[in-house]
Amino acid sequence: MAEKNIVILISGRGSNLQVLLQAKLPCRIAAVVSNRADAGGLEIAQAHGVPTAVIDHRDYADRDSFDAALARLIDTFHPDFVVLAGFMRILSAGFVARYHGRLINIHPSLLPAYGGLNTHARALQDGVRIHGCTVHFVTADLDHGPIIIQAAVPVLCRDTEQTLAARVLHEEHRIYPQAIRWLCNDRIELRDDGRVIFRYRKQTSHALISPGLE
Ligand code: GRF
Repeated sequence: MAEKNIVILISGRGSNLQVLLQAKLPCRIAAVVSNRADAGGLEIAQAHGVPTAVIDHRDYADRDSFDAALARLIDTFHPDFVVLAGFMRILSAGFVARYHGRLINIHPSLLPAYGGLNTHARALQDGVRIHGCTVHFVTADLDHGPIIIQAAVPVLCRDTEQTLAARVLHEEHRIYPQAIRWLCNDRIELRDDGRVIFRYRKQTSHALISPGLE
């Protein structure tokens, strides 16, 4: 099996990027691309010797022209997979279709609950007892693509947005490398019917009950 190439897109601090760079993934991280020149993740990539590029969406007249330029840049690195790690731009249907089955994202909620922004604040507001994060294939339906892996965490009584975000982020850092390992090792595939199929996966049946039973 030839080594796969991935390109990682970021907009911000890059904690997921950092974990991916350190995870000894079975692929080559060909480049890190940011739409913001001040994204902290760019320095993290450079410290790991990974090529970086910045493409500022404000230099383009509209979403389609930005997405077309972004795709041209990404394709110079010949990626098998494109990995969104805190990339804060909505991608057009054309972009998403170009990378169908090859474009994944991590989102800080248990999708399909809490798509969009401010997920932790909204979960606290609703009083849910279980929250979490999701890695999914990206489709034109924002934050609703086929799910690869999720991690659930309890919401604790004294949680603030910050403490809950930190608990979720800790799990993001565990599930994203796993999802990419599965992808690069051909262990998962997005079927035409929109389902994700796994090959040779051990199933577990542990329940997360929150608050715990006494
Ligand atoms: C993460 O919470 C991720 O789920 C969301 O954006 C955030 C990025 O954080 N898509 P970081 O830049 O990886 O630290």
